[in-house]
Amino acid sequence: MAKVKVVFECQSCGYRSPKWLGKCPSCDSWESFSEGIEPNLSEQKSRFARPSTPTKPVRLDEISSDEGQRLITGIGELDRVLGGGFMKGSLVLLGGDPGIGKSTLTLQIAKSRPDLSMLYISGEESPTQIRQRASRLELPPNRMSVFAETELSRILEQARADRPDLMIVDSIQTIYHSELSGMPGNITQIRECALHLMSLAKQEGITILMIGHMNKEGDLAGPKVLEHLVDAVLQFEGEHHYAYRLLRSVKNRFGATHEMGVFEMSDQGLTEITNPSQLFLSGYQPKVSGNAVICTMEGTRPLLNEVQSLVSPTAFGMPQRTATGLDQRRLTMLLAVLEKRSGYRFSDLDVFVNVAGGMRIQEPATDLGLAAALVSACINRPVHAHMVFIGEIGLGGELRAVNRIQQRLSEAQKMGFETAIVPESNKGMVKTPGIECIFAPNLDLALGQLF
Ligand code: TYD
Ligand code: MG
Repeated sequence: MAKVKVVFECQSCGYRSPKWLGKCPSCDSWESFSEGIEPNLSEQKSRFARPSTPTKPVRLDEISSDEGQRLITGIGELDRVLGGGFMKGSLVLLGGDPGIGKSTLTLQIAKSRPDLSMLYISGEESPTQIRQRASRLELPPNRMSVFAETELSRILEQARADRPDLMIVDSIQTIYHSELSGMPGNITQIRECALHLMSLAKQEGITILMIGHMNKEGDLAGPKVLEHLVDAVLQFEGEHHYAYRLLRSVKNRFGATHEMGVFEMSDQGLTEITNPSQLFLSGYQPKVSGNAVICTMEGTRPLLNEVQSLVSPTAFGMPQRTATGLDQRRLTMLLAVLEKRSGYRFSDLDVFVNVAGGMRIQEPATDLGLAAALVSACINRPVHAHMVFIGEIGLGGELRAVNRIQQRLSEAQKMGFETAIVPESNKGMVKTPGIECIFAPNLDLALGQLF
């Protein structure tokens, strides 16, 4: 009888170790190891022998470049994030917190494209529940069938028989391979099931959308393993106390990454928000000190938003620095630059900054706006109304050029802004401003224009 070998496997990245470890040496997650049994290699090979047809190398110019092979979902924001719809025969992962709207979004594809044949594999909800939700979403008569099954081989069999245009797997954590040890949702199960779905997609040309839940750290279970494998990873996120939802592409083999789509959750399901700047600026109060408008790029789309800051004298001990929606280290750096290069004193002040609407911003091009908000809060004077701030700040207090300046300015103009403070080094890239531009070489000169 073959010897049974016990291995411990990291549930986050798949790293294996002969003994239990508290911290994964590969992905640094804590307490992520769980025990499993390693099947011996020959057994493993025979179990997972994938149906494969022998292939030969083909010259690049002999391969047809079927660029028209896109499956348009008809949901504009989703199509944009995908880079113009799904690539046919691709495997896409849609991740997000429970209850954020992943199932709703996928069901709505059946609403916008009732002509598509869809196979909805449901491991979480019963067909009755799906039917109820479909009537709530007012789904028209369509060609979607629901299959409440979680065993992989039966799913593959059904998909090969039906050959749907689009197959939805809700969710990958509930699917299991009956010949593998371990519970559904365990890393080995997820990886193997995803591999089989991948070969199904490629061999049969079926587009597959897999839904995946996040774990408590905000990662997909087995994120590294799945991310490498699939063609695209979309992340659906949002704060539960706001109605809007952001869809981002984290990886995309067939389009730009970091593209963002915005939706709003209502009782009729998700509606697209085609002008997100308007949404994020809806609460903007120009006459209040500490507020400034910034322009970020979300993928290829410019987006205006508001940073708010508040300062108050430190009561005792170390001053506090709290940043919500942006990087705390960036805030600390900017405070140091403002103090050292421009003489504003923050060392005895508590500083709080916040990006309106619960957005998360990572771009350095927002530095100037953040600095303007901080100075405005520090001296308690509102900045000029209808002014937008664009620029990265260096440690020497210099303003650095940002990319896609023209697009950002056009968005600001579209939203009714009159003036923009822009790095001087961007001057050559501004063709048709459409809005008054003040070009500043450094922070001091830019701050001189605020009030
Ligand atoms: P759901 O798509 O089930 O989330 P997920 O699949 O990501 O877990 O969305 C569930 C939430 O959405 C739930 O809290 C109810 C809400 N919702 C609405 O507000 N309006 C609707 O029309 C629908 C269908 C759901
Ligand atoms: Mg769901």
